Amino acid sequence: MGCQVVAQGMWLPMHLEKQNEKEMKSLGLKLDADDIYSPVEPSLKDAICQFAGGCTGEMISAEGLLLTNHHCGFDAIQNLSTLEHNYVDDGFWAKDRSAELPAKGVIATFVIRMEDVTALALNGVTESMAENDRQSVIDKNLAQIKVNTKKNAWEDILIRPFYNGNQYYLFVTQTFKDVRLVGTPPSSIGKFGADTDNWVWPRHTGDFSMFRVYANKDNRPAEYSPANQPYQPRKFLEISLNGVSEGDFTMVYGFPGRTDEYLTEAAVRQTGEILDPAKVSIRERALKIMDGFMRKDPEVKITYIAKYASIANSWKKWQGEMLGLRTYKAYDKKQEYEAEFTKRIENNPDWNLRYKNILPRLRQLHAEIQPYALARDYYLEAMVRNNDLMGLASQLNSWLDTYEKNGANFFANKQKDATAGLSGFYKEYRPAVDQAVFAGLSEIFVQDVNKDWGGKFVQETAAKHGGYEGLAKYIFDNSILPYEAKMNALLAEKPDKIYETLKADPAFTFWKTLNDAYVANIQPKLQSLQPQINLVQREYMAAQIKVFKDRRFFPDANSTLRLTYGKAGGYAPRDAVWYQYQTDLDGVMEKYIPGDYEFDVPQKLIELWKNKDYGRYANAKGEMPVAFIGANHTTGGNSGSPALNANGQLVGLNFDRVWEGTMSDLNYDATICRNIMVDVRYILFIIDKLGGANYLLNEMKIVEGKKRK
Ligand code: ARG
Ligand code: GLU
Repeated sequence: MGCQVVAQGMWLPMHLEKQNEKEMKSLGLKLDADDIYSPVEPSLKDAICQFAGGCTGEMISAEGLLLTNHHCGFDAIQNLSTLEHNYVDDGFWAKDRSAELPAKGVIATFVIRMEDVTALALNGVTESMAENDRQSVIDKNLAQIKVNTKKNAWEDILIRPFYNGNQYYLFVTQTFKDVRLVGTPPSSIGKFGADTDNWVWPRHTGDFSMFRVYANKDNRPAEYSPANQPYQPRKFLEISLNGVSEGDFTMVYGFPGRTDEYLTEAAVRQTGEILDPAKVSIRERALKIMDGFMRKDPEVKITYIAKYASIANSWKKWQGEMLGLRTYKAYDKKQEYEAEFTKRIENNPDWNLRYKNILPRLRQLHAEIQPYALARDYYLEAMVRNNDLMGLASQLNSWLDTYEKNGANFFANKQKDATAGLSGFYKEYRPAVDQAVFAGLSEIFVQDVNKDWGGKFVQETAAKHGGYEGLAKYIFDNSILPYEAKMNALLAEKPDKIYETLKADPAFTFWKTLNDAYVANIQPKLQSLQPQINLVQREYMAAQIKVFKDRRFFPDANSTLRLTYGKAGGYAPRDAVWYQYQTDLDGVMEKYIPGDYEFDVPQKLIELWKNKDYGRYANAKGEMPVAFIGANHTTGGNSGSPALNANGQLVGLNFDRVWEGTMSDLNYDATICRNIMVDVRYILFIIDKLGGANYLLNEMKIVEGKKRK
């Protein structure tokens, strides 16, 4: 039952022919490897870009039309919204080019070509070298490679380590800075199901938005200008209305952010059983407090909704990861793998000599780093990331550093930027909420792990003020950091005054004391242990490749362009339960809750559904497909990546993974792990029938063939 188990992996486009083409064709691919990636001829890679730093987008017209997720475009959509024009709630469709809205700060980066530069990068590196020396040799080499690489003036060069630093690849890229919002569905479609449905299948979210990339008159990247013209990509994606059936070949092309597939059992267990639970409990506390305020006050709700969603996103994912690692026996599997590794090296005297210390050493190092890694997560999660006041203090610290290092004049230059930067912070900030969060997170921070460094200080300070709430009240009553007007007034003063005031502020001094304790007690240990782990992990990676010649190894994700492929298909999360691979509009209506902030839908969608007014977007059964899943190995950063069929045509838009499979960053299991994609037919249906923006379809290349169920 279900789909055939396919090799996991996020593969390097330039090696597809050598490593994957044969398997891909056996799974159904109709293209050749160089249709997907070619450094010379136009290929699919010319249609793919990294969007807004952390997501993926793709070209779907000859005139720079870009498709990505709603949650990837959300910042831009929110920033462009006003009270009169609420694109978040109402959606937006530009009637023509002149109505497209410049999305300040949004960029799109395309890969021109990539090269293996391992030999040059590691030139002069020896096995006996100390890590620092090794790194400085490599840094020099990389600088030299950059100088020697031919590129055009508008292009950039990026070199990244792969396989834990065993290989290096170079990318020539071009980054477009004039990107404009073309359209978005209302959040009731683009975020349908919101946090409740996040990381979960079955899914019914129309998670897409559209932008257009603009270039100068020579079709090159340029800053925003009204004179710019739509970018003409070397390649854009055709769109197929045929859909995919269970078992059909699919591939996902994009920029996955980070995976750690080659760690030891000890390291994975540390994440799943020690670090994840700690981070989850800290975020849980913060989220509960925020939720309490959001339920009482709609104004707070709007202010905190994006922040809440972003904290909740990882919070939920880590829980899925913990659960998945345990349920699907990741630790046992890693142990078996290590036993096999050990057996193989023991049968080979050469290997045994070189590799026998690797696993014991990694186990020991991970045991040594554990208390410090935990302290780091406590500190970062409770005193920097989810605690806005402390996060702001840590940002201020870098300003004060600037002052101390570069003097008042330099600081004065930064003053305006600083004020502007803070206005974004205060827009999503309410002191009363943050005061409660501060109290809660201070309390949770004082755990056994932290007693001997910062925890003691927090506990004693709280005791002086009658507890954690007393401490929070004292700080919020006496600090100016939580209050925008007070901060702006201060930032209008002379640098010396700003410096002195901030340095004495009780919120700042509180954070600074903690940070100093962290820097004195935790950081040095991490700084001595982490490079040792990196070194042995690098050896372990190289050894795995040598010892398991019968396996193919893809490099862990590192925000560079990758292709992953597999088959569309459902899965069995537990005994007797089978999840089908496709959802449809009937399912949206099953979940519909009138007036609910997660499950409401536009009236017009209900009408279209009642009338079965699906046009040419329905499948052969007359249903309106919404989302589907497949065994493509994806991670964060693949949001917005195109899902392509065997002919390289767009059939969906990647936006999430299933609950049972979120462990795939550490332990991909093709029987359970599925990526979630919006069906492109739903996207076109929403644009055309709901948005009334069918003119946008004119510039797309839409292919219709035999319809499938
Ligand atoms: N889980 C997806 C990702 O990691 C979607 C996140 C956005 N959606 C949400 N409900 N927060 O980015
Ligand atoms: N939602 C994720 C993102 O924004 C993609 C889902 C995943 O992590 O696989 O990149």
